[in-house]
Amino acid sequence: MRILVTGGAGFIGSHTVVELVNAGYEPIIIDNFSNSDRSALDGLRQILNRDVIFYQGDCNDPETLNAIFEKESLGGVIHFAAHKAVGESVAKPLMYYRNNLDSTILLLETMQRYGVSNLVFSSSCTVYGQPEQLPVTEATPRLPAQSPYGNTKTICEDIIRDTVRSGAAMKAIALRYFNPIGAHPSGLIGELPLGVPSNLVPFITQTAAGLREKVTVFGNDYDTPDGTCIRDYIHVVDLAKAHVQALRLLDSQEENSYYDIFNVGTGQGNTVLELIKTFEEVNQLKLNYSIGPRRPGDVEKIYAQVDKVNNVMGWRAEKSLADGLRDAWRWEQNLHLKNSTVSG
Ligand code: UD1
Repeated sequence: MRILVTGGAGFIGSHTVVELVNAGYEPIIIDNFSNSDRSALDGLRQILNRDVIFYQGDCNDPETLNAIFEKESLGGVIHFAAHKAVGESVAKPLMYYRNNLDSTILLLETMQRYGVSNLVFSSSCTVYGQPEQLPVTEATPRLPAQSPYGNTKTICEDIIRDTVRSGAAMKAIALRYFNPIGAHPSGLIGELPLGVPSNLVPFITQTAAGLREKVTVFGNDYDTPDGTCIRDYIHVVDLAKAHVQALRLLDSQEENSYYDIFNVGTGQGNTVLELIKTFEEVNQLKLNYSIGPRRPGDVEKIYAQVDKVNNVMGWRAEKSLADGLRDAWRWEQNLHLKNSTVSG
């Protein structure tokens, strides 16, 4: 079955392409490289030992989407492509609303026109804000978004839900990702942040590689065992596999108008300092870090309750925090090897 993967050259998208092929699907990638790099496609070819079907284009462009839907006889869509930088979204809200909402609406319209019913959507635990009770279940109420980026996830979930409920011939699943980390164990694909990373793990690996001077831990006066924030760090390969399970679940639903949401995390929370300690241990190095002030907008602690995704999808996280941090570091090192070979 041919599956359109929007943003398939990106971090989570590229890992999902690998797992789709492993599961017997044929991924069709569309990506405009706005926050990804062509080299991800080379990595995919090496891992898969075959070519991948790729369209360079924008999923806000009706003609591009029409051409792909016309040609490819799709059996489903996984929609990753979106802007995702929280700070940038505060500075450029219209860019975020225009891009993230338009692409989702256009995809839904195009899917309906071509009779493609199955959609998996990339959502985020950001929709929960700081929940009152932990762990968060899918029934935990969403809170008003802290940023335009977060709001686009909430709104897109609702747009998809309402479309499915309208009686359209559609089935959809929104996956609420917790904090994706790591890289493919081959070291051939991974996260490629443009500019200074805002996420913790790429900042750590770039610091360990000497690109950044030190990691600042954003606050150690939170109400947690060591005072630093708690997150649920999920290995990107595990997360990628959840998309395959979501497609299978959609396929098994007889009824149109099926819509559901799933938390995708490990069910375990770790503090920033625990993560740094694990990074140092598994990679046998010392990281230069210091404690700084809190980052505005950070939630204190969040981790997932994963019973639903375990029971309904038959998916569970298999890789550990240590696996993720080992793989992230291997990827960072490979990047520098590659760059020094190219420039040398
Ligand atoms: C962030 C976004 C979230 C988005 C996700 C995408 C915010 C408030 N949230 O999640 O909406 O879905 O990225 O991946 O931006 N930390 C440091 N030092 C650093 C970087 C991070 O101490 O240099 C800490 C943060 O305070 C946080 C943890 O590390 O406690 C994880 O941060 P990050 O990787 O940025 O993810 P989130 O903030 O959880």
